[in-house]
Amino acid sequence: MFPIEKLKDLRTPFYFYDTELLNRTLQAALSEAVACGYHLHYAVKANANPRILAMIQAAGFGADCVSGGEIQAALDAGFSADKVVFAGVGKADWEINLGLDHNIFCFNVESIPELQVIDELAAAKAQTARVALRINPEVDAHTHAHITTGKKENKFGINLDRLDAVLDTLAGLKHVQLIGLHFHIGSQLLDLEPFQLLCDRAKTLQESLLKRGMRVEHLNFGGGLGIDYEQPDAHPIPDFKAYFKTFHDYFPVAPGQQVHFEPGRSIVGQCGTLISKVLYVKEGSVKKFVVLDAGFTELLRPALYEASHLIENLTAPTHEKVTYDVVGPICESSDCFAKDIQLPQTQRGDLVALRSAGAYGEIMASQYNCRQLPKSYFLDLL
Ligand code: LLP
Repeated sequence: MFPIEKLKDLRTPFYFYDTELLNRTLQAALSEAVACGYHLHYAVKANANPRILAMIQAAGFGADCVSGGEIQAALDAGFSADKVVFAGVGKADWEINLGLDHNIFCFNVESIPELQVIDELAAAKAQTARVALRINPEVDAHTHAHITTGKKENKFGINLDRLDAVLDTLAGLKHVQLIGLHFHIGSQLLDLEPFQLLCDRAKTLQESLLKRGMRVEHLNFGGGLGIDYEQPDAHPIPDFKAYFKTFHDYFPVAPGQQVHFEPGRSIVGQCGTLISKVLYVKEGSVKKFVVLDAGFTELLRPALYEASHLIENLTAPTHEKVTYDVVGPICESSDCFAKDIQLPQTQRGDLVALRSAGAYGEIMASQYNCRQLPKSYFLDLL
């Protein structure tokens, strides 16, 4: 599936994007969402490569942003401001002002002090900001602790027992208009049951808001749908049908109500691959190490979340299998992509693919050790 002849002379490490798969994924997500009447905002944090953003924008998605930089990246890629939502627990004044200046669709607000600052900044511009309350629904996503967001002890969202106080505050503010509720319980969910619990929580909440005379016009269920890191070729496109069906079955949409989602990983995860070259095969006393020219500077997920990405030797796929640790060149022990995995016998110069790296790969790259940021190449432009 990789155009090896075209890739083999490019300077490694780099990201390679299968734009054809991205387009198929976008169409699959959109058609399933549209069938249920849902709106999609792509979570820019997963991958803000300008070309990827432009393709997602052209497909008709809105943008879910978590910083002023992401708002700017989305606008630069052509997303219209009325399809931009802005979330995040720590919005700086300049970021809020940027959102106000462009009159973005909605600020997803996470605390009383944030609500007050948005009100103040909007007042100074004689504007009214549309806001949704990001609620911490206390639903355990059963995913890695670093990517769980919807539990009581997480910093995200407004705790359920604080909601009354937030609504009381809102009632006294003139430059914010409440338009809905926002949730995000975590990322890389393959079991859909936590989403059922989320629907129940959303139903209960909107009923209690209705009792206070507030109709929830917009519901945003965040992102979170996982991808198959073990078998990317068997499951290149996530099961959007089952995902949206869960919400369709468990959350009855009220007349006039709009439901939104913010998928990130499920959209871009499988279309991206980190391509690296083998620098050395090093024999230790108890291990054999494949030392790559890519490290956690290019793909942080294994070091940060103990994540595994399927590793393939593209040069010698049929060689007899040997057990290796696959490591990078960074001067840290955590710079390890995989321990004790079976790979075809590998040599210096072999091209290696780290699969399913389209989400939270290139965007989390750093220049630690004074390394250069990786370049990106696209199937349709090679
Ligand atoms: N909406 C909000 C408010 C979020 O915080 C996130 C992700 C998303 C949407 C998109 O979630 P997704 O569909 O991608 O699961 N760097 C980590 C993942 C961090 C996710 C942060 N929030 C990783 O590499 O696994």
